[in-house]
Amino acid sequence: MKRSSYCGDVREDSIGKDIVVCGWVHSRRDHGGVIFIDLRDREGLLQIVLQPENKEIFKIAEDLRSEYVISVKGLVRKRPEGTLNPSMPTGSVELVVSKIEILNTCPGLPFEVSDYAETSEELRLKYRYLDLRRPSFQKNFIMRHRVLNEVRNFLNDEGFLEIETPFLTKSTPEGARDFLVPSRLHHGSFFALPQSPQLFKQILMVSGFDKYYQIARCFRDEDLRADRQLEFTQIDLEMSFVEEKDVMSVIERMLSRVFKNALNIDIRTPFERMPYADAMLRYGSDKPDTRFEMEIRDFSSELKDCGFGVFASVISNGGIVRGLCIPKGASFSRSDIDGLIEFVGEYGAKGLAWMKITESGTESNIVKYFKDEDIKTIISKLEAKAGDLIVFLADEEKIVAQGLGALRLKMGKELGLIDKSKFNFLWIVDFPLMEWNKEEHRWQALHHPFTSPQDAASLNKENAGTAKAKAYDVILNGVELGGGSIRMHRSDVQKKIFDILNISDESAKEKFGFLLDALTYGAPPHGGLALGFDRMCALIAGEDSIREVIAFPKTQKASDPLSNAPAPVSEKQLKELGVRIVVKQAKA
Ligand code: AMO
Ligand code: AMP
Repeated sequence: MKRSSYCGDVREDSIGKDIVVCGWVHSRRDHGGVIFIDLRDREGLLQIVLQPENKEIFKIAEDLRSEYVISVKGLVRKRPEGTLNPSMPTGSVELVVSKIEILNTCPGLPFEVSDYAETSEELRLKYRYLDLRRPSFQKNFIMRHRVLNEVRNFLNDEGFLEIETPFLTKSTPEGARDFLVPSRLHHGSFFALPQSPQLFKQILMVSGFDKYYQIARCFRDEDLRADRQLEFTQIDLEMSFVEEKDVMSVIERMLSRVFKNALNIDIRTPFERMPYADAMLRYGSDKPDTRFEMEIRDFSSELKDCGFGVFASVISNGGIVRGLCIPKGASFSRSDIDGLIEFVGEYGAKGLAWMKITESGTESNIVKYFKDEDIKTIISKLEAKAGDLIVFLADEEKIVAQGLGALRLKMGKELGLIDKSKFNFLWIVDFPLMEWNKEEHRWQALHHPFTSPQDAASLNKENAGTAKAKAYDVILNGVELGGGSIRMHRSDVQKKIFDILNISDESAKEKFGFLLDALTYGAPPHGGLALGFDRMCALIAGEDSIREVIAFPKTQKASDPLSNAPAPVSEKQLKELGVRIVVKQAKA
């Protein structure tokens, strides 16, 4: 019996035809002598009817259990009136079986494939092959394939060349922690797995390839979250003789083609461009979710002389005060508000001041410290209405922005303010070139030390803190989808930056020598960007975690329950590599 169709593809145009389908028994229902099976393959489900008249077939049908693999031949017919299932693409037809063969059996399952009840992630990943059988997963991976195909078609049409770069490379500083690979032939030396193809793609520009792309696997030994994995995929590209707007335009066109073809969604281009400082002020984040308003406002100048000691002293010590209006929050109880205070505490906030707005005025333990004018300013700047709750944070800028930014997101989600049907793309631009490292008392590059400053000529140690970078991040619904920059292609400017970053010639040479050398041999102006492909697929599929669009992801604890990696290796292997394991002594 050779398969003639996928289960999920059978439609009314097959009515009256004999077909053969193969797949897994998704579910089985016994209806007064007639057995119905939902047979599943990659494309979907098809209802199979087994009638008692054909004794031989019926006997086999009685033995079928969940996830048995079968092949059936039969006649497609329209489902009888009243039994149509409009929620299934094949819901108006069914297959009346004339021949059946069991190709394989399956023991009792650790969890039901057809049942969407919560199963622990550990168990789902241990039996990932069963988990991946679920129709929602199959849909995600078919989508992932289509999107990638669309991306490749687009970049090929635009004249990009797909070039691979090595996995075994050199450990370089900056960024996340590297995964190291001990060298068998050079004991004591290590390769590192690439955190991204950054240095190599720049070198490809020096070599004159002009437009490069790669669907690149990247490795970063960092703490995992819903949108982070140890290994993940980037759509990585680099272009020569371009400025910011050229790179941004390629990405806008690529995303609009992909979203049109994958989701039939028209996205508006060009995307909004928001300066970094604006995003931090209004949304408390460099990846703002603009699907809802609830913007943060600054009150540091208005409230610097206010009667509330906490605010006045923070401002006079160089800190800031910002506020957020939570719609309908006046109904929050004291313990609700205590919950919010605890929440911002996780971001380092020392408290959270609040004011309820009522029809008759304001209510809180701190209103007595404010003049009427102050209250008026606060209400009007936050456009607060009766029934709302205003909250304030006073602290150094970073803590205020992070605390209120996180609170804004939490409230947006909990109050149902986020329109899930929206796809809000935007660019964050005008990033600072450097940030001050408080612990080490030195400037460090915000992106990487090869990012070009906007104004290279006037850059110096004194104005380094306010210098802006030719860098851009693309954000979708509060997720950093990708980031890139125009690079430094001139070694004189590069030297100036290293000077400000306190990286000596010697140490620069040791760390990134091969790139610096390459840049001296006639490097063209160049720039690029990398999109997080897993994040993009999760957003398209409407999934909260990238693990739902990665076939074999690691758990939150950075392990793989399916293969049991990571795992110890034999003494012999270690010896060959010249590696000795130091066993951590438990502290007495
Ligand atoms: P960056 O480090 O910003 O830039 O990475 C680009 C994009 O990759 C995704 N991403 C991740 N996805 C899943 N798991 C992770 N651990 C993870 N880390 C990053 C994000 C991010 O926006 N070489 C530069 C790009 C360039 O300048 O051209 C780079 O790697 O979506
Ligand atoms: P206190 O004077 O410590 O009793 O605080 C009075 C109110 O101000 C309380 O509601 C605190 O939660 C709040 N508060 C304290 N420190 C801060 C701060 N840094 N930012 C915002 N509110 C604060």
